Amino acid sequence: MAEPPVTDRMATDPRTGGSVAVGTKPGDLQPADVRASDLAIGIDFGGSGIKGAVVDVRSGKVVGNRLRFPTPQPSMPSDVVGVVEELVRRLVGPWDPNEGDAFPVGVGIPAAIRNGVTLTAANIDPGWIGYPAERDLGLATGRTVAVGNDADVAGVAEIRFGAGRYQRGLVFVLTIGTGVGTALFIDGRIVPNTELGHLELKGRDAEELVAESARARLGLGWREWAAGFDAYLHELERLFWPDLFILGGGASKRADNYLQFLTVETPIALATFRNNAGIVGAALVAQERRAQVAALAARGPLP
Ligand code: BGC
Repeated sequence: MAEPPVTDRMATDPRTGGSVAVGTKPGDLQPADVRASDLAIGIDFGGSGIKGAVVDVRSGKVVGNRLRFPTPQPSMPSDVVGVVEELVRRLVGPWDPNEGDAFPVGVGIPAAIRNGVTLTAANIDPGWIGYPAERDLGLATGRTVAVGNDADVAGVAEIRFGAGRYQRGLVFVLTIGTGVGTALFIDGRIVPNTELGHLELKGRDAEELVAESARARLGLGWREWAAGFDAYLHELERLFWPDLFILGGGASKRADNYLQFLTVETPIALATFRNNAGIVGAALVAQERRAQVAALAARGPLP
């Protein structure tokens, strides 16, 4: 197997002229540590960046470089698919291409998704409404592709390997960033597409008040922002009686600023993966899809 380059540097994307962050973090694995059949690619499509990495699905760890492209503006499906295609090409590039169905691709998208079709577009181009994302990404990359809601896939990473590991009962994973994403798990099984960032709060879409982007847009201090976020958590608590809230997304990195203002009774944990959950979870979802496809192929045609 060829060795992928492992470096820390900024590169320039020759296609868009945009910057591409290339780097590894402490705890990442190196190619010599893994088996190719355990690898999948995870891609996280966010408001400002589209990030991706190769992930070892047995450990939930990133292998080698993470890449990031700026999200095209507007974020039209065809442009985003082009960026994902390029990311996948670069991530797979250094490896031996003759590895069977190595490198299935998982993509987390900030939308409700059913049967591979994106159904909403709260913070992305309206062209995503009714878009056959899984089909088109599969055609563009030539690989097994699984798409999922970005918060759902981030939640999968936290439940499998992170703060929700071994947690039974009802768990919410919340991603607080450009938007507010929610992932609901019952005894480790996901109830997809909950979209509770759009609950009504004080007569408004909750996301408009409690997203991290809202803090800057409304010019709120941490205490003021936390009051709104706390009211939001109380609403979830009142309606669902969860056993645990896991806080992820950009705001989880600055939890020191607001945790002391949260008054819900439900225990709160910080996402272990922080901003990496989306990449790792997407890779896990891709691996599940690869297993399903293999099982179907092994079963052969129905009688
Ligand atoms: C979208 C969700 C997404 C969340 C976080 C919301 O605006 O409706 O689908 O999970 O943002 O990105």
